[in-house]
Amino acid sequence: MIDHRELFVELDFTIEMPLIERMREILDTISFIRTKYECSVQFSNILEPDQQIKFGNKLDDYFASRNSLQMFLIIPPYSYFPWHFDPSKERTTVINIPLYEYDDSHQTYFSGAPTREELGYDLYKIVQMKYKFAHPYMLNAKGKQHCVFNPTDIPRKIFSICTETSYKDAVAWFGDLAL
Ligand SMILES: [Fe+2]
Repeated sequence: MIDHRELFVELDFTIEMPLIERMREILDTISFIRTKYECSVQFSNILEPDQQIKFGNKLDDYFASRNSLQMFLIIPPYSYFPWHFDPSKERTTVINIPLYEYDDSHQTYFSGAPTREELGYDLYKIVQMKYKFAHPYMLNAKGKQHCVFNPTDIPRKIFSICTETSYKDAVAWFGDLAL
């Protein structure tokens, strides 16, 4: 059995609607980097200082002190992003926030497949991460393999913060967080 806390955690607060609307506004104006594959995750440019989302609480200092980057991800309709570990050596923990309400099939995000070497045969365990609208999720994106599916005709839009901290330290810090 996989302990999903090694893979991801749903953080214990909700993003207020005015901030979600601000994120949506910036999303509509920002450029997206061309990705290698048409049917895959699309990454936006990194938000410039004047576009940065401020949470108005201790999260701002936390993210600033860990050289965090803010960006958007879009998973286009009928698309998937294959199994991968996030490539950044420094920004090893990711916080994702879904910007719209999506149905269950949209929330098909698998995480934490053991590698073939660990198992010795072709059986891969998967854990589904079910995004809830406006809830932040912290992902062990560097440490665990993950895979994204969108088997619907609606693009899935995510606000994403990449932080320069270990997943373990981030889980501990957010575990003590009182906003
Ligand atoms: Fe990833």
